[in-house]
Amino acid sequence: MPATVLSTDLVNNYLDSHLGERQVNKIQHGFPSPRYWNELSVPLEEIGEDRRRLREVHGKSPVFLYIGVPYCIKTDPGKCGYCLFPVEEFQGNAALENYYGYVEREAEMYREQMEDTVLVGAYFGGGTSNLYKAPVYHRIMDMTRSLFPEIAEEADLTLEGIPQLFTREKMEAIRGSGMNRISMGVQQINERLNSLSGRKQTTKHVIQSLEWARELGLSANVDLIFGWPQQTVDTLLEDLETLVSWDVYDITHYELNVGGPTDFALNRYHELPSTLANLELYRAGRDFLLDHGYRQLSTYNFRRPGDPTARDFREGYTTRFDHLDTLGLGYAAITFFGNPTLPPGRSWSFINHRSLPQYKAAVDNGRFPVERGFRHTPDDWLLMVLFRSLISTEVDRVQYRAALGIDVYEKFATVWDALAERGLAQITPEWIRLVGDGAFYAPMISALIAEERYRELREETARHRRESRGPAAAAGVTLPVPGVGSAG
Ligand SMILES: C[S@@+](CC[C@H](N)C(=O)[O-])C[C@H]1O[C@@H](n2cnc3c(N)ncnc32)[C@H](O)[C@@H]1O
Ligand code: SF4
Repeated sequence: MPATVLSTDLVNNYLDSHLGERQVNKIQHGFPSPRYWNELSVPLEEIGEDRRRLREVHGKSPVFLYIGVPYCIKTDPGKCGYCLFPVEEFQGNAALENYYGYVEREAEMYREQMEDTVLVGAYFGGGTSNLYKAPVYHRIMDMTRSLFPEIAEEADLTLEGIPQLFTREKMEAIRGSGMNRISMGVQQINERLNSLSGRKQTTKHVIQSLEWARELGLSANVDLIFGWPQQTVDTLLEDLETLVSWDVYDITHYELNVGGPTDFALNRYHELPSTLANLELYRAGRDFLLDHGYRQLSTYNFRRPGDPTARDFREGYTTRFDHLDTLGLGYAAITFFGNPTLPPGRSWSFINHRSLPQYKAAVDNGRFPVERGFRHTPDDWLLMVLFRSLISTEVDRVQYRAALGIDVYEKFATVWDALAERGLAQITPEWIRLVGDGAFYAPMISALIAEERYRELREETARHRRESRGPAAAAGVTLPVPGVGSAG
């Protein structure tokens, strides 16, 4: 395994020029960014075979399930003013239930592949998953149990939604179905700031939903966003004080990802805090939560110990380096599958159709509704599991070596050393930990480590596009090429 090609000078120049720049790709669940997923033909049969073969060798394997919903309530400005996820406007309940029927049919296609697996967690996200009426939560869990007869005792089964759509009846059905956690997209408690997103959410909706969850024994997470237009340290702290006073144990505090044709990017850019102001917001939020007894479990997630309903679950990242199996069902859902013991090129990330008609047409024709994918090289795998682990703010060197046969410190020594010199990382024989502002910069640090590979991927993508444009383009027409780590 070659050592990193990143020289100390390059690393330091990169850090000097990026510490004050707006970070991109902040919600990082994989590598590379989906914009480089160019394989239009993903070999689902081969992946199924590999799943079976791995089970024969290693026994029952853990799988994480994600199910997406395309729909969201219309807002003015559109897509809540900031959202970069693919979504469709809610067309009423008949369309939603019709859609869910397709998800059930897609799940059937994976039945054989999922034999002898253990479900270790599930996330019913979106879009807006609490648009479903009460009986559908039972349908979702019936389907989940049928596909995964074995569910780990500690499995977190989370349904994501927005506060104004929860009702007592839905919450009872969510609990009654066997789901055990809700994640609420609140973003801002402050009603004036939240109204910039066009969402008709009030503080009462938030507190009422949290009360129902508590009465019914559901764990509850609240998602907030910092770096919002017109936000100040004072409004941020007021929101956090409110959540702490309501005894919310589980708070996810994302930095706003700005981009695309969103209202915030196009019309409110000048109202956004600068990157360094975002860093101040991050520090203020982190310090406030740590002072109030919360522990930082990941770059964005803070938890207070003592939650009677909590399980040992950490959202969005893995500490395993040897195996990754997330089954994504539904519109725009992402599947990760891989294992370093497979032959090179047999580990995959792929995404389902982001066009609802195409998603449905594929299922109607008995085809897996996959839009495109990325075939990981062994080195891509190393990066992917490293970045997923960095989200947790620490990398276990011993486990990494045990799973992959290399020392992650040695592999990227110039980066870790430069971070340690700047007080952003701490290196011990067992761990690499992001400390100080290191966690805030985790997306930038990942982009730096991936710099060399992203350069290759940009070249491959440009070549691919030139070839598909014909001889004139192949002769040297310049194409716009996405930047390193651009939001994906
Ligand atoms: C994909 S959204 C779906 C949840 C739900 N529909 C909602 O809006 O709350 C999940 C979470 O991602 C976060 N999110 C979405 N867009 C974001 C952006 N542009 N920047 C930062 N976080 C974002 C929000 O905190 C949101 O709660
Ligand atoms: S933020 Fe949530 S509700 Fe708004 S468009 Fe995105 S997914 Fe839908």
